[in-house]
Amino acid sequence: MDSAIRTRELRKVYTSAPPPGAGRGNGSSGRAKRSKEPKPQIVALDGIDLDVSAGQIFGLLGPNGAGKSTTVGILTTRVRPTSGTAWIGPHDVWHEQTAAKRLIGVVAQRPNLDFSLTAREILLFHGAYFGLNAHERNERAKALLDRFKLTDRADQLVRGFSGGMMQRMSIARAMMHDPQVLFLDEPSVGLDPQTRLLLWEIIREYNQKGRTILLTTHNMEEADALCQHLAIIDHGKIIASGTPRELKASIPGGFLLRLRFGSHAAPLLERLAALSGVTEVRPSGDGAVDLYAGRGGSLIPEIVSAAAAAGMELSDVHISEPSLENLFLHHTGRSLRE
Ligand SMILES: Nc1ncnc2c1ncn2[C@@H]1O[C@H](COP(=O)(O)OP(=O)(O)OP(=O)(O)O)[C@@H](O)[C@H]1O
Ligand SMILES: [Mg+2]
Repeated sequence: MDSAIRTRELRKVYTSAPPPGAGRGNGSSGRAKRSKEPKPQIVALDGIDLDVSAGQIFGLLGPNGAGKSTTVGILTTRVRPTSGTAWIGPHDVWHEQTAAKRLIGVVAQRPNLDFSLTAREILLFHGAYFGLNAHERNERAKALLDRFKLTDRADQLVRGFSGGMMQRMSIARAMMHDPQVLFLDEPSVGLDPQTRLLLWEIIREYNQKGRTILLTTHNMEEADALCQHLAIIDHGKIIASGTPRELKASIPGGFLLRLRFGSHAAPLLERLAALSGVTEVRPSGDGAVDLYAGRGGSLIPEIVSAAAAAGMELSDVHISEPSLENLFLHHTGRSLRE
C-alpha cells in the first residue's frame, strides 16, 4: 500500500446543524416554522487534496473550525462528502466502507467510550469485534494497558476515569486491532506534559512498525516534533504543505520581528524594507509592523536608526524564530492560537 490516504477535490458543505433538542418530542409547529427558514450552508471543506504515503506520520494543522475533524470524519466513513473522493489504500471510503474500515483505527475528538465497561473489557471487546482470538486479545490488552500506564486501573469502570485517562484509553482501543492507518483527532488535548511525551513516544513506536498515522492538532510544537509531513489547513483549504523543515524554510526570511512605533508611515516602511537581510515588511493590521528577515536581534539597532531617521521611535519589538506559527501568520495574517 504505497498511498495510505488520498483525497481529491474533497468538499463538505453542512446544511443546517439541527439545534440541540430539535426533532425530539413536542413542537411540530416549531419544526414547521424552522423548515421555512433558509438552510444555513457551512462550507467546511473547500477542495482538499491530500496524499499520505504508507508509513508516514502526517499532521493536519489548523485553527478551530478549519475543517480538520470533517476531513477525519470523511476518511473514517462517518461523514458523507458533498463531492470529491477519498481513499484508504485502494478503497473509496464512501463506496467501500467495510473494506476501508478494516484498515483503520480511529480516535475521535470527543471520547466515546462505553462507561459501563472496565478498561480491560473495552479493549477485549474491541479485539473480539475485529476477530482477534482470545489469546491475542488478552496479550494485546495487557501490553496496551501497560504501555499507556493504565494497568492499575485495568479492572475499574472507565466512568470513573479522569479526562486524560479516558483519552489514553481511546487511543489504546484504536490500536488494539493493530490497524494499518491510525487516525488521531487532537490526541494530546487534555494530557499533562509528561503524558503528552509518552503519547508521542507511543505514536513513534507505532509508526516504526510501518503504520501510517494521521493526526490533527493546533499545537505547532506537536506538529513539528512528531510529524514527517504536514498540511496546514484554514477555512477548508490547504494553504501549505511539506515537511516541517520545508515549511519553516518557506517563510520569507524565517525570523519575524513584530515592531511597534508611535506611528508609522510609508517612508518608514520603505527604510525598513531596505535594511540588509529584510525580505518583507507589512503592516500587521493592529498598528504593528511585521518584518520578515534572515536575522533577528542584530537588526534592532538598524531599525532604531531607520525609525529615528523617519522621525519616529521604536516602542516595542517581539522577535520570533522560524516556526510554523510564523508560517501560518504569513499565509493568513492571523495567529494559529487566535
Ligand atoms: N455536524 C455539523 N453540522 C454543521 N456544521 C458542522 C458540523 N461539523 C462541523 N461543522 C462546521 O464545519 C466547520 C469545520 O469544523 P471541523 O469540526 O471540521 O473543524 P476543526 O478544524 O476540527 O476544528 P477544531 O480545532 O475546533 O476541532 C466549522 O465551521 C463547523 O462549525
Ligand atoms: Mg476538530
